[in-house]
Amino acid sequence: MGFASGGLETYPYNVLMEDKDIKEQVQARFRRIASEPSSETRFSVGPESAKNLGYDPQEIDSMPSPVTESFAGVGYPLGLGPVCEGETVLDIGSGAGLDAFLASRRVGPRGKVIGVDMTPEMVEKAETNRQRLGITNAEFREGLAEKLPLENDSVNLVIFNGLLNLSPQKGQVVAEIYRVLRPGGRIYAADIILEEGVAQATVEKLGQWSD
Ligand SMILES: C[S@@+](CC[C@H](N)C(=O)[O-])C[C@H]1O[C@@H](n2cnc3c(N)ncnc32)[C@H](O)[C@@H]1O
Repeated sequence: MGFASGGLETYPYNVLMEDKDIKEQVQARFRRIASEPSSETRFSVGPESAKNLGYDPQEIDSMPSPVTESFAGVGYPLGLGPVCEGETVLDIGSGAGLDAFLASRRVGPRGKVIGVDMTPEMVEKAETNRQRLGITNAEFREGLAEKLPLENDSVNLVIFNGLLNLSPQKGQVVAEIYRVLRPGGRIYAADIILEEGVAQATVEKLGQWSD
């Protein structure tokens, strides 16, 4: 099975135009966070943010700065349950790769981690980080959460950290997760949810998806 790369060119053909606009806005934001993490002022990013969200400080400090500086997660999904040796883990919206690298330590040499992200600069940064760390059981693919570049029934565990809130097609993302999970598979997710409804006028502002 082959998969095209090239970012938004791979977008499902039937997507609404405004969804594509949202994607472009979100992608522009994460392109900036990949190349210049200190430019992010609205949300916490980087190693201190990870520690505040519950990551093991020693584990974070064991990572070189390029691995943690663009961390933009909103929680600690790997803290939600076991990650077993030999498992295949999919990290959707893998960013610069921090969660994928931590998962790769847990699954060991018989296991595998696949990171998928739609922002080419994040995928490149994660791949450079992978080489920097000498990790051989992780790989990064450019792709969309709404059209995952993976086979059916191919992973034991899906993790994501701050991904679903960014997608205008949340149902499609969930359908894709269920497609790629093996029977009995698990999902460990950290995300932003709203407890009260958001006014339509707010939803319609493009900037709200990325700012
Ligand atoms: C909030 S950041 C979190 C990155 C990473 N999980 C971390 O904890 O640092 C969200 C990531 O998801 C990616 N992303 C957003 N929407 C996506 C989508 N529909 N498909 C694939 N990746 C997406 C962005 O490019 C970005 O790298």
